[in-house]
Amino acid sequence: MTPRNDFPLLERQVDGRRITYLDSASTTPKPRAVIDAVRRYYENHTANVHRGAHVLSEETTSRYEEARFSIAALVGAAPNEIVFVRNTTEAINLVAHGLGLSSEDEIVTTALEHHSNYLPWRLHARAVPLPLDEDGVPRYELLRERLTSRTKLAAVAHVSNVTGVVAPIERWIEESHARGVPVLLDASQSVSHLPVDVKALDVDFFAFSSHKMLGPSGVGALYAKADWLERFPLYQVGGGMVARHDDDRFEPREVPFRFEAGTPAIEATIGFGEAASYLRAIGMERVAEHSRRIGAEMVDSLRSIPGVRLFGASIPPERRIGLATFTLDVGDLAQRDVARLLSDGHQVIVSGGLHCAHLFHQRMTVAGTVRASSHVFNDSSDVARLAAAVREIAS
Ligand code: ALA
Repeated sequence: MTPRNDFPLLERQVDGRRITYLDSASTTPKPRAVIDAVRRYYENHTANVHRGAHVLSEETTSRYEEARFSIAALVGAAPNEIVFVRNTTEAINLVAHGLGLSSEDEIVTTALEHHSNYLPWRLHARAVPLPLDEDGVPRYELLRERLTSRTKLAAVAHVSNVTGVVAPIERWIEESHARGVPVLLDASQSVSHLPVDVKALDVDFFAFSSHKMLGPSGVGALYAKADWLERFPLYQVGGGMVARHDDDRFEPREVPFRFEAGTPAIEATIGFGEAASYLRAIGMERVAEHSRRIGAEMVDSLRSIPGVRLFGASIPPERRIGLATFTLDVGDLAQRDVARLLSDGHQVIVSGGLHCAHLFHQRMTVAGTVRASSHVFNDSSDVARLAAAVREIAS
């Protein structure tokens, strides 16, 4: 679908064999266009943003703000509704802070969530998780009955980082809005696999990270409807977010800059914008079709291996991305050890463990899982190599 040789990491060899990278849900390799954008900043522009009175600062500010446009265009937002933060986790914490929650307030979510979309609700309010079925899929149909007069938000992963299942977000948003409840989507696993239009969805908050969408680490974005951002209290204060400061008072800058205190991750943000442009150039419909196909191939090829238990596999491929999570029952080998064997013995790079989703593993009564997750550069040969390696370990 896209040239593998756009991604220098994929040339990496371990023990004389080329790696098969299937850990993009953890973090993605970066295309050369992104690496070059970061390098160009270091070599040609290095300066701070929104501050300097010299040409390099002006150039850097332009690149930085172009990134905001590129990211806004990827998700159908207006640029002033994109707040740059460190990552999805910070985006969600910003919302938890902004909503002014108390311990009486309820946030409806699911037991499948990543910690970032659960612990903030535990800390600031009371998390009300929807249960999971035996395949690890949330009982989304219970949402309506869990929304009460105390519900302040309905927060759900657009795509699960554990199972790759796409949540029925249109219905989730419709049912929540019908009760006057705003919606947050944790989009860290969806935004680089599926086409997204935040306006058409009418979602209130949409949080994502650069490093899971072919961009650098250290930066992410919160999309929020402008009227929420206008109403939110200040989050962090410092340089860059203030328009005026004297002994009596200070005046914050306009949205979104008032939420961006301090020098940001400038080069990472420029790379983030480049990653969004790279994805837009491929076309998100094509990306999604490819992701679904690889997901279906992974599930189909793992399903028949003795000792494999897949999660989320009861869901049809149209509602999954290119990700397969499973346990392999082989002696007393822990799932982390299976992942390690895949890496050390077969150069197949996958995740093993709890994937920051302890509740899911408790509910499924498993001590860990193995997760293979693809992106635009993977193809059927990677799936075949994964399946052959798992089959060999199983035997
Ligand atoms: N959220 C990341 C993962 O699922 C860390 O691996």
